[in-house]
Amino acid sequence: MPTEVKKSNINHPELEAWVAEVAELTTPDRIYWCDGSEEEYQEMCDALVAKGTFKKLNPEKRPNSYACFSDPSDVARVEDKTFICSRLKENAGPTNNWMDPREMKETLQPLFKGSMKGRTMYVIPFSMGPVGSDKAHIGIELTDSEYVVVNMKIMTRMGQKVLDVLGSDGEFIKCLHTVGAPLEEGQEDVLWPCNPTVKYIVHYPEERSIVSYGSGYGGNALLGKKCFALRIASVMAREEGWLAEHMLILGAKSPQGEKTYVAAAFPSACGKTNFAMMIPPESLSDWEITTVGDDIAWIKEGDDGRLYAINPESGYFGVAPGTNEKTNPNAIKSIESNAIFTNVGITDDGDVWWEGLTDEAPENLTTWTGERYDPASGKPAAHPNARFTAPAAQCPSIDENWENPEGVPISAFIVGGRRSTTVPLIYQAPNWNFGVYAASTIGSEMTAAAFGEVGKVRRDPFAMLPFCGYHMADYFNHWLQFGRSLSNPPRIYVVNWFRKDDEGNFLWPGFGENMRVLEWVINRVNGRTGAVESPIGYMPRYEDLNWEGIDFSKEQFDELMSINREGWKKEVLMHEELFEKMYDKLPKEFLFMRELMLSSLWRSPETWELAPERV
Ligand code: OXD
Ligand code: MN
Repeated sequence: MPTEVKKSNINHPELEAWVAEVAELTTPDRIYWCDGSEEEYQEMCDALVAKGTFKKLNPEKRPNSYACFSDPSDVARVEDKTFICSRLKENAGPTNNWMDPREMKETLQPLFKGSMKGRTMYVIPFSMGPVGSDKAHIGIELTDSEYVVVNMKIMTRMGQKVLDVLGSDGEFIKCLHTVGAPLEEGQEDVLWPCNPTVKYIVHYPEERSIVSYGSGYGGNALLGKKCFALRIASVMAREEGWLAEHMLILGAKSPQGEKTYVAAAFPSACGKTNFAMMIPPESLSDWEITTVGDDIAWIKEGDDGRLYAINPESGYFGVAPGTNEKTNPNAIKSIESNAIFTNVGITDDGDVWWEGLTDEAPENLTTWTGERYDPASGKPAAHPNARFTAPAAQCPSIDENWENPEGVPISAFIVGGRRSTTVPLIYQAPNWNFGVYAASTIGSEMTAAAFGEVGKVRRDPFAMLPFCGYHMADYFNHWLQFGRSLSNPPRIYVVNWFRKDDEGNFLWPGFGENMRVLEWVINRVNGRTGAVESPIGYMPRYEDLNWEGIDFSKEQFDELMSINREGWKKEVLMHEELFEKMYDKLPKEFLFMRELMLSSLWRSPETWELAPERV
């Protein structure tokens, strides 16, 4: 029998029975119920330091912060090992891996048998969303990884306060995780236990439960994030009539003091965290951007018919490489202390470094794999998917309403991908349905950090391709249906910060300058600026954007905004590749919208009409 440490008061028979059942299967040495306290976090970090998994960083440079390094076989989400095990294959759809739930359980059972031997099984009660909010949902993660416990402490609200809300019969999502590395009697542990060959990230949508085996990294192991807050929550949202989205949420306060909130979906590696924490350039510094969330939004209709969003998370699990004082000063401030760094480079004086943090790498650097850094070797100091985990409250731009249990009212949706050609800097979809079409056909060129062939356009509908817990075409239908019930749905905008010229140079400076685009969006939302009606939607004219403090000519703007007929013909025809996979459930509206777009491409720019200020 495992020893049991109950740090928390628990009186929930179903939960206790589940914990006992899992313990019987996985045979941990000890069961530890987390209370979520600061002391517990500290004790666990100290234990990880003593074991050698965590390296305590120099307290003068990086107070109360740690670095750790994963096994090279365990560095990112494993999309090919991620399954949606709905009872029927057609409910998982063509873009998810599927296995019959019974067959999956038979596969996992022997793997989990004794999988926690020699380890402690931690019971982590956590709330996605402010504790007690009627928009929040509770999960319990059982895990044999201390790394998971301390990261969950930052990324979610966890511990006793969640059990208090759960009471004796509250509902919770079962999240079971093991690193899949049992320890035999006397066997010494490794610094990053995982199963180097077998990994499964499994979702049972009908049971609303999650089982993860073999990985200790990020979204594979911190089950509140992608597994619960997106894959399982998307299923719940469809059934219950709300939206669980891979979206950041930001607030923009105008020079007149008016606050507008927007939610934005960008595929992984398109700078979501940077946009969520953007600092406007000097010339637009009377605008203020505040951050509600950088990755996930749960959105429900309020009594007043508007949409309200919460960020279900309480921390950032951000990509470190490329983050610096210029690209994201607020992120840099958020990670000054109380942070955990995974797979970054380490300086001899106990600080962190990654590609892009500074122009020059510091002297005396050790890479994430523990070698002396040698720029000539071509090997980076940090893994391209190296991460920081930091409390959201530490972000200087955190929004005053970020923990408001009611959420914040959303006035616009923004979607976009990384596209070097074809897609202009910004346009507004003509209406909700065209917006849903545009968001459903978002494409992004893959980078080294993403999954697939570098440079190839991967269609990533609503940036949800790896995160939708059901058939993607049902998801499109859910969005269309959701909009039908709203009296005044938010407008939907498409952006592309990444368009290049023929020589491969970016046409748009991006980062803080994106404020100019956001300003246009907000002015449009409030019926204060003009546009022209192009074949793909409403687009600003040069004079509709604020050019104060930047040297950006009309010619540059025209190139950045150009709609190339041949390029768009190809683009729209390429949507077919996505659609043909899901014809069985594809909204028929999409076929008509596609046709309409194709036929309107024949209108030349001289005939584009001025659009009304409020559409
Ligand atoms: C993430 C992702 O880690 O989208 O947020 O991949
Ligand atoms: Mn993400």
